[in-house]
Amino acid sequence: MSVHSGLRSPLRSYGPRCGRRTVRPISAPYRCSPEGSSTSATGRRSTSKGPCRRATGSVANRTSTGTSWTAAAPGGGRAVEVGCGLGLGCALALEEYGPAAITGIDIHPQQLQRAREANSPLLEAQPHRLRFVLGAAEDLPLGDAEFDCLYSVEAAQHFPDLSAFAREAARVLRPGGRVAVTSFFSVGGAPESAERLAGLLDSFASGLDIARPVSRLADALTEAGFADVRVASIGPQVWPGWDRWLARLWEPGTWPRNFLAAWEQQILDYYLVTATRP
Ligand SMILES: C[S@@+](CC[C@H](N)C(=O)[O-])C[C@H]1O[C@@H](n2cnc3c(N)ncnc32)[C@H](O)[C@@H]1O
Repeated sequence: MSVHSGLRSPLRSYGPRCGRRTVRPISAPYRCSPEGSSTSATGRRSTSKGPCRRATGSVANRTSTGTSWTAAAPGGGRAVEVGCGLGLGCALALEEYGPAAITGIDIHPQQLQRAREANSPLLEAQPHRLRFVLGAAEDLPLGDAEFDCLYSVEAAQHFPDLSAFAREAARVLRPGGRVAVTSFFSVGGAPESAERLAGLLDSFASGLDIARPVSRLADALTEAGFADVRVASIGPQVWPGWDRWLARLWEPGTWPRNFLAAWEQQILDYYLVTATRP
């Protein structure tokens, strides 16, 4: 299927989370790429090579950011978002939750460039409260015990090594610090789940999203020494809104609309995973 097929209309857009000002048709639903090209108002990219895909850019992602933040740092403090993309979640958290400071980490330099552009007024106005740093989830360029909370919104489905991510999270958090990850994972670990997801969703077929059960992350956190590791499905709060947003852009039957189908078929779900560093 052409990635353009089913696209309802080209977008005139400013990608507030994953992109930049542009007027181009989008060809992938919510993918964003360091290689550049177009981005929708809600953060989708036009290249299939992109490393980043927006959850919804709106309803669901706001839900995920808020859920992650609330779970990780109810009292504020020093926070780091791993896989920050355009950093709009960092800005949202600064505005709504009042932490002392937030560091956004992303593996792709062009994402960080976009994040700095998208957040330039905030960076200028509050340089001590927001920064964006290049780095991988599996090898964070951050000091030991530097943070009170670490959160990640819809990025862990890309991380190739969840164990390394969990170890790094434990290292950069102070004792008592909290981690919260919101992302989607396969339901069950059977190989047929991965096959079915690849059949429904191009992002799994291409390897951009990795089909793994959420227990892989929970186990990795436990093995890294975290306590009170908890997993909660937040699918009902995410998927219907996500699909309503997609419906503005994509016809029924196009592959992006299959995220909802995958959830309904109980092979994919969206989760909140939290833990505390002893
Ligand atoms: C779907 S975007 C989410 C962006 C942001 N969290 C948000 O909610 O708007 C996923 C981001 O994770 C980044 N990413 C993917 N793999 C990564 C890794 N191993 N380490 C750090 N960032 C990574 C991508 O570059 C991308 O910007």
